Amino acid sequence: MSGLLAGRSALVTGGGSGIGRATCLAMAREGARVTVSDLPGAGAEETVALVRAAGGEAHAVHADVTQPDQVAAMVQAALAAYGPLHCAFNNAGIAAMHVGAGGQRMGDISLQSWERMLAVNLTGVFLCMAQEIAAMERSGGGAIVNIASVAGLVGLPGSNAYVVAKHGVVGLTRAAAIDHAAAGIRVNAVCPGYIDTPMITEAMARRGEQILGTVPLRRLGQAEEIAQAVVFLCSDRAAFMTGAAMPVDGGYTTV
Ligand code: NAI
Repeated sequence: MSGLLAGRSALVTGGGSGIGRATCLAMAREGARVTVSDLPGAGAEETVALVRAAGGEAHAVHADVTQPDQVAAMVQAALAAYGPLHCAFNNAGIAAMHVGAGGQRMGDISLQSWERMLAVNLTGVFLCMAQEIAAMERSGGGAIVNIASVAGLVGLPGSNAYVVAKHGVVGLTRAAAIDHAAAGIRVNAVCPGYIDTPMITEAMARRGEQILGTVPLRRLGQAEEIAQAVVFLCSDRAAFMTGAAMPVDGGYTTV
């Protein structure tokens, strides 16, 4: 098979929905064999079916990215299915509303909400990276892309724990890029603006016009547009990129 990721093995967390699903499909179109990971019942099997229907190769794994043993088993499953791991997209994540903290300011957020947000959106990325890096070091290198957000580059109102977690992902990306460059592992982050996925359905219903008013291109991004950036960062076309935090945001962070 030809393509930017021909012959590569790829792992995507949160691959059952939104940006993760679009990226699994895009990676498979570019020739990668894809391990699609998500929580049980969160759509990983459906993504695999879509990849296969399009002529690609994929299999599903269930893992909660906050659980070290499940993350280790997820990476082992990817290795067992497709051999050495070349690409990983650490994409699983939640929004403030998932921890009951939508719109809350720093003084109002509960410790439980704060800890859950950091567990999924920051520690989850750390746990996945640790296993992926160990596997990639054994096989001579690879490319990791972490999902951050525009909230990893600037502040957003009423999203403090989310902003902290995503800034943490950018920091983790930069630190790991330095530490593992000599092992041939590139680590980059993609920083999406507002993307049309289930994660922002509720926010768009509540204040869609206001959100679009903050985006110079005056539209939501599509999951496919993030997928294309991730494929690029995983591919040899980005061979000289590591430690980058790449905005794909319709101009949001330029204002
Ligand atoms: P989504 O809600 O469609 O997908 C998120 C996926 O992560 C789901 O499949 C969910 O099951 C999975 N997930 C959640 N908790 C998990 C856990 N503990 N273990 C394993 N998987 C878990 O949302 P979307 O938009 O595709 O989000 C993907 C990533 O993109 C998230 O990290 C999000 O923060 C980030 N992002 C999204 C933006 C947007 O506007 N949609 C903007 C910037 C970043």
